[in-house]
Amino acid sequence: MAMAIDRRSSYSRAAITLHWLIALAVIGQFLGIQYAEGLSREDPAMATVYMIHKSTGLTILALTLIRLFIRLRRGFIPLPQHMAGWEIVLARGTHVAFYALLLLMPLSGWIFGISADRGLDWYGIFPVPALPAGGLADAAHQFHELGAWALVILFVLHVLGALKHQFLDRDDVLARMLPAARRR
Ligand code: HEM
Ligand code: HEM
Repeated sequence: MAMAIDRRSSYSRAAITLHWLIALAVIGQFLGIQYAEGLSREDPAMATVYMIHKSTGLTILALTLIRLFIRLRRGFIPLPQHMAGWEIVLARGTHVAFYALLLLMPLSGWIFGISADRGLDWYGIFPVPALPAGGLADAAHQFHELGAWALVILFVLHVLGALKHQFLDRDDVLARMLPAARRR
């Protein structure tokens, strides 16, 4: 099935808002873990930091599902004509891998990180049950750690790509995700 092509030159306001909200939340996940690693095991703040990590992770899952729904319905905006085939594959491949990890990081966390007896109180507001792990907990835990590295690599590629578009190619790719970057 051919995917719809959105001929508009910029992402919708919803897509832009979700992109930056999710990006901030993902960066926050790493900073939160960094902070937790500096705490001693008995520190009472530890439980709160992990409650926030888990709640934010599940929020990223929900926001990503909404974002993918909008994205698949509206189709994609064509990349600039000047891009070589390998650049297009690298750019789109990075995006697809990002989407996969934005779903699989929260799901793997949910499988190993929410215990059946205690569940999770989402930001202390409402209960989220455990997923039936069915022996998958260890694999999910390993995936979560490898996936975190993959996210870091994708992030570097993604930001280098954005900077190349903005400063070497001087096209409108960053501007369509960050209207404040529009030239003139
Ligand atoms: C996009 C969402 C998420 C990101 C980017 C993320 C990222 C991370 C990172 C970077 C680590 C440290 C890994 C390491 O020690 O090498 C981690 C650990 C952890 N995450 Fe997540 N996470 C996400 C979602 C979740 C969710 C939804 C849960 C649970 C519901 C969760 C539960 C945990 C737990 C329990 C650990 C500690 C594991 C350990 O100490 O070995 N995470 N996460
Ligand atoms: C963890 C943080 C981030 C994640 C998970 C992320 C994820 C994504 C994804 C999945 C897309 C594809 C959108 C689509 O077509 O459906 C995208 C597009 C884009 N991102 Fe990010 N992003 C992050 C951070 C950043 C940062 C820091 C920048 C700028 C320096 C940036 C600039 C862009 C731009 C310019 C596009 C549009 C590309 C195009 O038009 O094809 N992103 N991002």
